[in-house]
Amino acid sequence: MDLNELLSSLTLEEKVGQLVQLAGVYYDTSSEITGPLANFEITDTQKYTAGSIIGVSSAKEAYNIQKEYLEKSSHKIPLLFMADVIHGSKTIFPIPLGASSSFNPSLIEKMAKYSAIEAANMGVQVTFSPMADLARDARWGRNMETNGEDPYLNKVLTSSYVRGYQGGELSSDSLLISCVKHFAAYGLVDAGREYNTVDLSKRLLLEQHYPAYESAIKSGSKMVMSAFNTIDSVPVTANKKVLDDDLRNMLGFDGVVISDWAAITELINHRVAMDSKDSAKLSIDATVDIDMMSMAYKDHLVELVNEGVVSMELIDNSVKRILEIKKAYGLFDNPFKNLEFDENFNVDINQVAKEVALESIVLLKNKNNILPMTKNYKVYGKHVSSSDYHGPWSWQGDINDTKSIESKFGDKVVEYRGSDFDLQFFSDVDNVILFIGETSFESGEAKSKTDIRLSKTDVEIIKKLKFAGKNVVACIFAGRPLDLSEINDLCDGIIYAWFPGSEAASAIYDLITGVSNFSAKLSMSLPRTTGQCPIYYNDYPTGRPFDKAIDTYVSKYIDTLNSPLYTFSDGLTYSNVTITDATAKPNKDHIVITCNLENHSDYDCMEVIQVYVKDCISTVIKPERELKAFKKVRIAKNTKSTFEFNLNLEELKLVNNNEQWILEDGDFELYIGLNVNNVIKQKVGVINGICINK
Ligand code: BGC
Repeated sequence: MDLNELLSSLTLEEKVGQLVQLAGVYYDTSSEITGPLANFEITDTQKYTAGSIIGVSSAKEAYNIQKEYLEKSSHKIPLLFMADVIHGSKTIFPIPLGASSSFNPSLIEKMAKYSAIEAANMGVQVTFSPMADLARDARWGRNMETNGEDPYLNKVLTSSYVRGYQGGELSSDSLLISCVKHFAAYGLVDAGREYNTVDLSKRLLLEQHYPAYESAIKSGSKMVMSAFNTIDSVPVTANKKVLDDDLRNMLGFDGVVISDWAAITELINHRVAMDSKDSAKLSIDATVDIDMMSMAYKDHLVELVNEGVVSMELIDNSVKRILEIKKAYGLFDNPFKNLEFDENFNVDINQVAKEVALESIVLLKNKNNILPMTKNYKVYGKHVSSSDYHGPWSWQGDINDTKSIESKFGDKVVEYRGSDFDLQFFSDVDNVILFIGETSFESGEAKSKTDIRLSKTDVEIIKKLKFAGKNVVACIFAGRPLDLSEINDLCDGIIYAWFPGSEAASAIYDLITGVSNFSAKLSMSLPRTTGQCPIYYNDYPTGRPFDKAIDTYVSKYIDTLNSPLYTFSDGLTYSNVTITDATAKPNKDHIVITCNLENHSDYDCMEVIQVYVKDCISTVIKPERELKAFKKVRIAKNTKSTFEFNLNLEELKLVNNNEQWILEDGDFELYIGLNVNNVIKQKVGVINGICINK
């Protein structure tokens, strides 16, 4: 298929059609179109020239749409079917924020691969995942879709997703096309309020935010979704500097940019566009290739070209990019790729979902080793029988197919009545395990909160049980970091489960009873109070650092501590592992890290060896500690092992005040440990780009 020939054979209307994405409902004659979607008028010609479809929920339906489309369209270019397969299609994996707590890139890659295998049997060709937005504010509902607060972890895991979905560069062997989103810095919405303004320096944009999107691009992602937010006071959907200069020219992205849902005409609400036509012009100028459901391109691009306001070259460039990914994905050879439902589809995805769940559930507190627990306990809470463990964005996942906690814990369960329970039901046990926290509807898109505490009922239950002399273990479901200050001291054990997905009950049961060991670490800190938001471990030194000896005029709050209640990287295991003999040896383009770990317990375990860097003196301020390398390792019970891995010298670079990545001369402290606050210090130096011992 010669794409230049194909392109020149297309009429202007057909070209513009490629840039239009419509929802599947417009093709489904059996369902009534309701809500805002009913406001759009779609002619048959427009239906059969559109280039892609969003949100078709079955392979059969997608197949029929494609078939009809190919019969009726004049040019026979297959449609691309796109959907939000964020953490699974039918089998639901932990929410990405939970999965990132595994600190396990190869597991994330495996998860994305299995997620793609299932989606490929359900009519999906493009997934709007991974989300590479760095998240720092617990109030934001979409934290659940992110890899948390650390730029390095985010960069590494974003790339794992793309490798899993696509298997490397986009090709006809790729299961799905991965569309990374939301370019850029959508996680910084002011005050954690959804769709709000983002304002940050170019230096930080380059240093902390772009690297994750870039890692997706380097791993083969050929689609990028532009973000709803502004950058430098211009909405990204109309921001040529961000999309053309930075994304395409600086980061080398040569693929397709798709707008977020209806974002093009939302430029009118931002008051940078007068009307829908103006918004179409601004977006195509900014090189947004596909208009997701705003209809501005459909309604105005032909006219804008005919009027000479938009050049044909601009349109051709966009169409070509779209045709290129259709070709690379093998759609011209097989337009029905992923649309032919295999009834005998039988892949053991649940096993993988369980593996990820086991590695994403974080043990935050385990006073007097109250866990594991196998006897002398009862189970209670609103999450015990509801199976509401999928979390938001769990597309075709049906909680009725998901086993409840009750089904695993059986006769230990006390029927839920909120805080209005009779203590008698617990009289025969010393311990109570509570399953509490957010419902799936409390996080995700458009679910910002100003109060991130547990519900009054949940707190009341804990108090009542504690005052009755019970030991309490809280297993908390959440799509964001919650403020646990009210219950932290009352609980003997705290498990932060996030939303673990389809295999929640089985994974939680195995962890609580000690069949499996915990290994997850928080990928996002839990604040002491909403008032600390945004809060992250890798913050900056100030001119007046907090000092216990100096009481005032230092950078602190007068009503709480600066530190979060639980910090990034916190997470216990049942094993007692110590780290010793950590060394850092410079070697050309990397530093070799070695250390010994000793597991002093009867539990096999996995630990995450972490390396944090402090740039001692630099031309721009740098955090006290920044994660720059990590390795998740297994260590058998009662054994000692030596581990070795590399810290890439590139990771010591910074973005200077001239917006350039450089490696500055000077000393660097390296902190090697199993937690950001429990580390062994080493030192290296850099002279003229060469790393030396110190
Ligand atoms: C979200 C995107 C999502 C798109 C399509 C938007 O509202 O911001 O993340 O991919 O909808 O469903």
